[in-house]
Amino acid sequence: MTTRTSRLPGFYKVSVDERRALVSEATGIGADDVARSLDAGGLDDETADKFVENVIGTYALPYGVALNVRVNARDYVVPMVVEEPSVVAAASNAARMIREGGGFRAEADAPLMTAQIQLTAVPDRAAATARILARKAELLAFADGALAGLVERGGGARDLEVRELGDDIEGMLVVHVYVDCRDAMGANLVNGMAERIAPNLAELAGGGIGLRILSNLCDRRCVRVACRVPFAALATEDFPGDEVATGIVRASRFAELDPYRAATHNKGIMNGIDAVVIASGNDWRAVEAGAHAFAARSGAYRPLATWRAVEDHLVGRIELPMALGTVGGTLRVHPAARLSLRLLAIASAQDLAMVAASVGLASNLAAVRALATCGIQRGHMALHARSVALAAGATGDEVERVATMIVEARDITLEAASKALGVVRASGETRELGSWEQIVD
Ligand code: MEV
Repeated sequence: MTTRTSRLPGFYKVSVDERRALVSEATGIGADDVARSLDAGGLDDETADKFVENVIGTYALPYGVALNVRVNARDYVVPMVVEEPSVVAAASNAARMIREGGGFRAEADAPLMTAQIQLTAVPDRAAATARILARKAELLAFADGALAGLVERGGGARDLEVRELGDDIEGMLVVHVYVDCRDAMGANLVNGMAERIAPNLAELAGGGIGLRILSNLCDRRCVRVACRVPFAALATEDFPGDEVATGIVRASRFAELDPYRAATHNKGIMNGIDAVVIASGNDWRAVEAGAHAFAARSGAYRPLATWRAVEDHLVGRIELPMALGTVGGTLRVHPAARLSLRLLAIASAQDLAMVAASVGLASNLAAVRALATCGIQRGHMALHARSVALAAGATGDEVERVATMIVEARDITLEAASKALGVVRASGETRELGSWEQIVD
C-alpha cells in the first residue's frame, strides 16, 4: 500500500507528463491510467451523447491537482477542474500554510437530504398535520419501500416534518422527508420517493398534490472545517505574519458586516469548492445553490468562512451544506470523474465533502491573504505570464525565465514573451538570465 503524500515540491515547474508521473508515484495509480482517463477531456463524443441532448461535441477544461492538502491527519492529492488562473496554485499554497498548523480538521453530518412535498388546498391544516404525524412511522416505512436499494446500503427515510406556509386561505402544507442518501448525492432517489409518497400525504391531508422535489438547502447535510495557521506561516516578502493575520481578520469582519463583500468572499471560497465538485463529477449548481441559501439563512447574506486571531495563530472556520456523491450519476460513465475519486482515495461522500470544504477554506485564505497584503494582481500576473510564456513556445526551465522577464518588464504579451524567449535561448543555459533591455528593440 502506497503512503499518500500531497507534498510534491517543484510540481508546478515540470511538464504535464512529469506531473503525471509524480502523481502516479504519490497515489499508486499508473501514469498511463491517469493519461488515458484524461484523454480528450475524459469524455468521448459517444459517451457525451448519452449524458445530454443535442450533443455536437465536448468542451474541455484544465484538470489540475491541489497539493499539500491534509485533512484529519491524512494527505490528499485533490483534483480541481477550473478555468481561472491562480485558483489551483492559491489553494495549494494556502494548504501548505495550513499544514504548518497541523492541517484541516473536518467533520460532516450524516448525508441527509430533504424532500419537499407541497400539499395544496388543505381544508384544516392543523388536523391534517396531526393526521400525518400520527402515521409517521408508517409513512417512513412506505418511503423506504421506494428506496429499496438505498435501504440495503444502510440509508433510507429517517424523519418527517410538516410545515405550514402562507395563510389559511391558501391551505398550503409542506411535508419534509429526511432521507439518508449514504454515498449518493441523492437527487433521483429523493425525487422518486417524493413522487411515490405524495398521494398518501395528500389523502391524509384531504388536499391536492403540488411540487415534489428535493431542497438544495440541504442544511442537515453540512460540513464543518477548521484550521489553525501559525502567524509565521502567513508572512510575505513585505509583511510579517502577525500583520498579515490582522489584515485577514479585518477582511473577515468586512465580509461579516457587508453582503457586498460577503458575496465576493464566498465567491473565492466557491472557486476551490466548485473545482473539486466538478472534478468529482458532481452537481456544482446544487452545491452553489445550497451554499448561498445557507449563507443567507439568518436573513442577511453572510460569509461562509470566518477568521480570528487566537494567540499566535490565525483560526479559520467554514460551514456549509454539501450534497456530494461518490456513486451513481456522472461517476458511472465519466472516466475523468472516476479518476478523481481514485486520486483522492476517499472512503465516502462525507470524506469528499470534507476535502472539498477544506479546499474552499484554503482558497479563501489565499484570497484574503493576498487582498490584505499586496493585492491579487501580482500573483495573477505571475501565473498569467507563465501561460503567455507557454503560448510563446517556452518549454521546461524557459517558462519560468520568460515569465519572470515579462513580469519585470510589465509587458505580459505574446509578443514580449516571444522576444524574451529569443533572448533566453540566445543566452544559453550557463549564462545570465536575459534582461528586458535585451528584448526591447
Ligand atoms: C476571484 O476569483 C476571487 C476573489 O475575488 C475572492 C475574494 O475577493 O475574496 C479574489
